[in-house]
Amino acid sequence: MPKNCLIVLGLMGLDLDSRNYFLIRGASEEDLLAVMNINRVCLPENYTYSFFETILKSFPKSFLVAEVNGKIAGYIMCRVERIFSKFQRFKIVKAGHVISIAVLPEYRRIGIAASIMKNAMKILRDEYGCSEIFLEVRISNTPAINLYEKLGFIKVDRIKGYYMDGEDAYLMARELTFLE
Ligand code: ACO
Ligand code: ZN
Repeated sequence: MPKNCLIVLGLMGLDLDSRNYFLIRGASEEDLLAVMNINRVCLPENYTYSFFETILKSFPKSFLVAEVNGKIAGYIMCRVERIFSKFQRFKIVKAGHVISIAVLPEYRRIGIAASIMKNAMKILRDEYGCSEIFLEVRISNTPAINLYEKLGFIKVDRIKGYYMDGEDAYLMARELTFLE
């Protein structure tokens, strides 16, 4: 098992080739091309290699990948920011900003995103001292909105024309006090 492995989920009985087996670990530079590929396949918001690299160097602990049989199936990358609290008026807090999360289509609906996100929330709180987490999501992205609501996020704002094509975003956030 890799040294930086966080969790392993084995849901497959004796079938080691099953897709229902994944592990979550910290990303390294060798993972970045695979991460960029997943980002391109899954989302219209894409970034340069150097952007991914900068995030990895700046906030390595909260850049996670999910591996299925040695293949990178999903990722999350976050940035730590000082922001006005989404929950307490006029208070400046440290918050984790989820820049991007995605799972390849063939590995969806087996709990990878939920698990990556739960691990990221713990790391943002315990390693980076964040008291909140937030993100933007397209108002039409029901799968992602459901995922975030299931994990305790709430919609705190709607940002008009946030995306390049004019679609609005929900700003969703959660306090990092009680984690599963
Ligand atoms: N329809 C409805 N609800 C869904 C769906 C779906 N297709 N997919 C996930 N959910 C919700 C459900 O509540 C699900 O719980 P359940 O399976 O018990 O019903 C919950 O999310 C957890 O599902 P996971 O299996 O953990 O999610 P998955 O690994 O499939 O990944 C994700 C979800 C990341 C949204 C995936 O569909 C994806 O990569 N989509 C394209 C990229 C994307 O939209 N990323 C988020 C953009 S916003 C941002 O990055 C900040
Ligand atoms: Zn953002």
